[in-house]
Amino acid sequence: MTIDETPRGSGSGGESPGMGRSRTTARDLERYAGLFARRTQGMKSSAMRDMMAITARPEIISLAGGLPDTTTFPAEDVAALMARVAADASARALQYAPTEGMDELKACIVEVMAGEDMDVATDELLVTSGGQQVIDLVCKTLVDPGDVIVAEGPTYPGAVPTFSAYEADVVQIEMDADGMRIELLEDTLDRLARDGRTPKFIYTVPTFHNPAGVTMSLERRRRLVRLAAERELLVLEDNPYGLLRYTGDRLPPLYALDRGEYVIYLGTFSKILSPGLRLGWTAAPRPVLDKLNLGKQGADLCSSTFGQHFVVEYFAQRNWRDLLGRLRELYRRRRDTMLDALAEHLPHETDWTRPEGGMFIWATLPDYIDTSDLLARALREHVAFVPGRAAYLDGRGGSSMRLNFAGVSEDDLREGIRRIGKVVSEQVGLYSTLTGVEPVPRRHAGSAADAAEAAPTARVLPLRRQAGGER
Ligand SMILES: Cc1ncc(COP(=O)(O)O)c(C=O)c1O
Repeated sequence: MTIDETPRGSGSGGESPGMGRSRTTARDLERYAGLFARRTQGMKSSAMRDMMAITARPEIISLAGGLPDTTTFPAEDVAALMARVAADASARALQYAPTEGMDELKACIVEVMAGEDMDVATDELLVTSGGQQVIDLVCKTLVDPGDVIVAEGPTYPGAVPTFSAYEADVVQIEMDADGMRIELLEDTLDRLARDGRTPKFIYTVPTFHNPAGVTMSLERRRRLVRLAAERELLVLEDNPYGLLRYTGDRLPPLYALDRGEYVIYLGTFSKILSPGLRLGWTAAPRPVLDKLNLGKQGADLCSSTFGQHFVVEYFAQRNWRDLLGRLRELYRRRRDTMLDALAEHLPHETDWTRPEGGMFIWATLPDYIDTSDLLARALREHVAFVPGRAAYLDGRGGSSMRLNFAGVSEDDLREGIRRIGKVVSEQVGLYSTLTGVEPVPRRHAGSAADAAEAAPTARVLPLRRQAGGER
């Protein structure tokens, strides 16, 4: 929610002086401006959060959200599990929990991490309020204003407001089909070292990247872990999607390769169960974990006890892998539908990634199209996406967009991409009229499923350098 959207006087008995006014006026801002902390000047709103109000309108097909499909969890199951929590543990479920999380929940987390070949002990875990809180706590614990964080370019748009709130200097490393380009990372680390600067941590989403849709190769994973050990650098591995693989071979998370020496691991129940629970976790080297725990005490004391009981009950009463299996099947079909629709409706000058899992495709249009401007046109056609700039801190990404295929029905995916194709084609046509450059004929649709199988390692993906070059 932006400040403009904050409801005034709500829930306060209606006696606030601003009662009845739903927007913050310029005068209001002026009144409070001198009170805000300096760090709020650099605070950025999350593009996706801002767009949620618009994209929640029923007439809009939103490919903008990071939403999983929560309808896959049967309502009667939710009711039955909640009833059991109420009947068996109501007093405990309504009580505070330890800051580090309930032991029974940690046992479930150990099981989930084992599903990706990670070996972790319960006392190496901290339960958090979503994975998002891990990013916040890691910054709170490690970052002083001006400190360097190294991240991928593009990076997870939801991390952008966090990095800016802690006044970090974020250096983004270009990616290709095999994830972050580690040779560029090494160059960047050398350059920073020459300036006497060491990053506080390297932030990466190595598996089914949000927003890029690509996966870091095994070789690069090994190199990154080796580099972190050689240079004694912390890596924050953000892995919400690792279990959502639709094609290709499983790769070990960085945490499994490093065994918890330099890798801080972020996991979450949001994409394998429900984001509404707001439950995630971190596994980190002991001294870091202790500080993260202190940071969490100051933030929210503990994560929802009721939610923790719900997850424990879910793991006890159901096979969590069944839902995962259903999600994989559903999202695989949706990914293929989106890939097919992109091939059918987007002009030849555009390109996009072919993810083996996760929830996102990153599409790149010709340089002369600005996706922030294009979004206004798309919204008139009742379709939404996340403009690429949301994934950069330095203005790059202007001709790219993030498309979510997981939370939308196949019919809406086809129709949404058709509408995006229409507005993109109009722009390509306009450019051609103005410049006399002929548009390239539309590609042949072909089978996207085949392309998804073959493409990820076969070609360099269009995560190409944007204006401004690599920092
Ligand atoms: C890469 C990444 N990290 C972290 C999160 C935060 O997830 P949550 O706070 O719901 O666990 C998300 C959510 O979309 C994400 O995509």
